[in-house]
Amino acid sequence: MTGTANEQARKAAEGLAHSSGFGNEHSSEAVPGALPVGRNSPQRAPLGLYAEQLSGSAFTEPRRHNRRSWLYRIRPSAAHPPFARANRGEIRSAPFTECLPDPNRLRWDPLPEPTDPTDFVDGLWTLGGNGDVTQRTGMAVHLYHANTSMARRVFGDSDGELLIVPERGGLLLRTEFGLLRAEPGHVALIPRGVRFRVELLDATARGYVCENYGRPFELPDLGPIGANGLANARDFLAPTAAYEDVEEPVEVVNKFCGHLWTATYDHSPLDVVAWHGNHVPYVYDLRRFNVIGTISYDHPDPSIFTVLTSPSDTPGLAGVDFVVFAPRWLVGEDTFRPPYFHRNVMSEYMGLIEGAYDAKAQGFVPGGGSLHNMMSAHGPDRETFERASAAELAPQKIDDGLAFMFETRWPLTLTEQARDADHLQRGYDGVWQGLQRHFRP
Ligand SMILES: [Fe+2]
Repeated sequence: MTGTANEQARKAAEGLAHSSGFGNEHSSEAVPGALPVGRNSPQRAPLGLYAEQLSGSAFTEPRRHNRRSWLYRIRPSAAHPPFARANRGEIRSAPFTECLPDPNRLRWDPLPEPTDPTDFVDGLWTLGGNGDVTQRTGMAVHLYHANTSMARRVFGDSDGELLIVPERGGLLLRTEFGLLRAEPGHVALIPRGVRFRVELLDATARGYVCENYGRPFELPDLGPIGANGLANARDFLAPTAAYEDVEEPVEVVNKFCGHLWTATYDHSPLDVVAWHGNHVPYVYDLRRFNVIGTISYDHPDPSIFTVLTSPSDTPGLAGVDFVVFAPRWLVGEDTFRPPYFHRNVMSEYMGLIEGAYDAKAQGFVPGGGSLHNMMSAHGPDRETFERASAAELAPQKIDDGLAFMFETRWPLTLTEQARDADHLQRGYDGVWQGLQRHFRP
């Protein structure tokens, strides 16, 4: 992509979003008067628009989980030709059956840079996941690397919502609901079924995607924390309505039950002039996360760092949680301050957006990732253990890194490409070798 095109995308990204209040009903119109007043589907929608409902939950789900939006668009989405199967590249979906589930601790370096022109969809590379897309359970971990914007092409995922975690390079997301800008340190969420196009704000882009097949992400309950804290609802930004009135061929890629299907429309489907509802894309700046931790001793479990959770049918047991390890003070007395040694029934995929992570001295790098599957034993490496066990416990600011975790109730099974990747680190177990015996009965 040329610098000029990047600049155009940057200019388009200025001043786009408004505070949505997470999960609340809200609205936006690109043309005054485009939103009907008092009814969703009047006999004739204003300005000659078509009214269309997009449901992200069953009609009858409880109100706190119910997601739907009304779109007022130039053409209804139904006006399209048949879809045909397309090459799915390096995208894989649940059920993941290429490999046996692996109990080993695994870690990868970043994806190599693409050599050919590669847009966001072409650049999706699936690491693994769990569940079953046809049952709407589970999740997938993808990475992406791109060096060009999507052109005359839009993508929509029928299989789940996409939580995009940029690590390098900003993204301009042109969605049916309007434009969103996501830079490294932000996360962007595209709800199930919402069409969007990714344009690059920099020469290249790289990052992570959690594809959540299950119930849409929501804010976790706060319990005794109270009415404020962790991710605050007002910091989630929704797009301002913006539409394309384009009558030319546009390829629409639909991920459906694990495969890609395409159809060439004779117009852009990003033609929504106004909308209201709560099934809406958003961005969130992870630096706004209100980090809560101990002010006495020990430290809370990392669930205290949950930004978003996808609940399952069992209260407290998430299909997937999105957790951030953001800058914070460590003040615990008589406390081993880095994450402790542990074995967890939940499975943990971790990535690093910038800087360093306090439980690993080296080898866990921005753009890389680690997988600690169900009950696998992990925690600080030898170097970190020895340093932290002997450290003088003055108040300490951890402010040189931004790490995150996709934590899921089911073990993750790898794709063949992840198991066999050149960028899989051989010998990761070595970081826990040489832990000295100190027992003195
Ligand atoms: Fe862990």
